[in-house]
Amino acid sequence: MHAPVAGCMRWGKWGAQFSTAQYRQMIDACLEQGITAFDHADIYGDYTTEADFGEALKESPALRAQLRLISKCGIRMVAEQRPSHQIKSYDSSAQHIIQSVEQSLRNFGTDHLDVLLIHRPDPLLHPAEVASAVSHLKQQGKILQFGVSNFLPHQVDTLAGHTLIEYNQVEISIIHLSAFANGTLDNCLQHHITPMAWAPLGGGIFTDDSHPRFRSIVQTATALAEKYETGLNEILLAWLGAHPAGILPVIGTTKLERLIQAKTASQLKLEREDWFRLLAASTGEDVA
Ligand SMILES: NC(=O)c1ccc[n+]([C@@H]2O[C@H](COP(=O)([O-])OP(=O)(O)OC[C@H]3O[C@@H](n4cnc5c(N)ncnc54)[C@H](OP(=O)(O)O)[C@@H]3O)[C@@H](O)[C@H]2O)c1
Repeated sequence: MHAPVAGCMRWGKWGAQFSTAQYRQMIDACLEQGITAFDHADIYGDYTTEADFGEALKESPALRAQLRLISKCGIRMVAEQRPSHQIKSYDSSAQHIIQSVEQSLRNFGTDHLDVLLIHRPDPLLHPAEVASAVSHLKQQGKILQFGVSNFLPHQVDTLAGHTLIEYNQVEISIIHLSAFANGTLDNCLQHHITPMAWAPLGGGIFTDDSHPRFRSIVQTATALAEKYETGLNEILLAWLGAHPAGILPVIGTTKLERLIQAKTASQLKLEREDWFRLLAASTGEDVA
């Protein structure tokens, strides 16, 4: 399995509100663990987190070459930073994509994004127009790779007819199993798309022990953690890592110790029956 991705959604205004020094500390800790990819979106922190992260990069320009920046666009949020937005909406027009990327580059103080994702499937998305924006941005060296997020297989298929899609970032965890059954992961295998899993730890299982399903998952994962002499998080991530599509977990933590767990998990291999044991703990039944 490849190294996990560090999700930065909760690092700024929407969570930990890190100082520039704390951003730097987290970035360094990630790099020490071999975690080199950082997941952003233009909207995180009400359009402020990219720039906050960028402050840390600007203080140490040599850092940029050591990391990979992923960002997303396509959601227009109502926020103080965007007074012209009256309601939440999507925009996958070429103009919006290009302007959003250029703003992200200014925020990070860089000349390129390593990966650009379209954040949500937009009912008004015109595939040829998205493809032209992607081609323009690639030609200018402003993005190196392109992908989507939260797209269903038919939406990927439609866009893949016009441009190369290299990633689909979707919610996948032991409590969010739809990607296994709705064709998303098969579609990734078919198109050689790397799936990224957002919320890969299914945060709720840690905070809600009133739910019998969550209790059952925690009980089973804890027993497996004992068997493999590791922790609960490592088991949950190794469970995702077992899928043949090569799921990259986008870890949303703000804690250094969980980054270390993520690294350990990327080297852990679950036995097949244990994988199904955890699945059964989530669904409440053995497979047919
Ligand atoms: N593409 C999209 O539409 C989309 C949507 C949402 C998120 N994302 C991306 O995915 C990343 C991850 O998302 P996420 O933060 O929702 O998911 P996550 O990695 O599953 O984490 C969820 C929460 O669980 C907590 N947690 C983890 N292990 C724990 C433990 N052992 N005990 C108690 N709490 C624990 C984390 O808090 P701690 O800080 O305490 O570790 C975090 O707040 C985001 O940063 C973002 O980059 C993408």
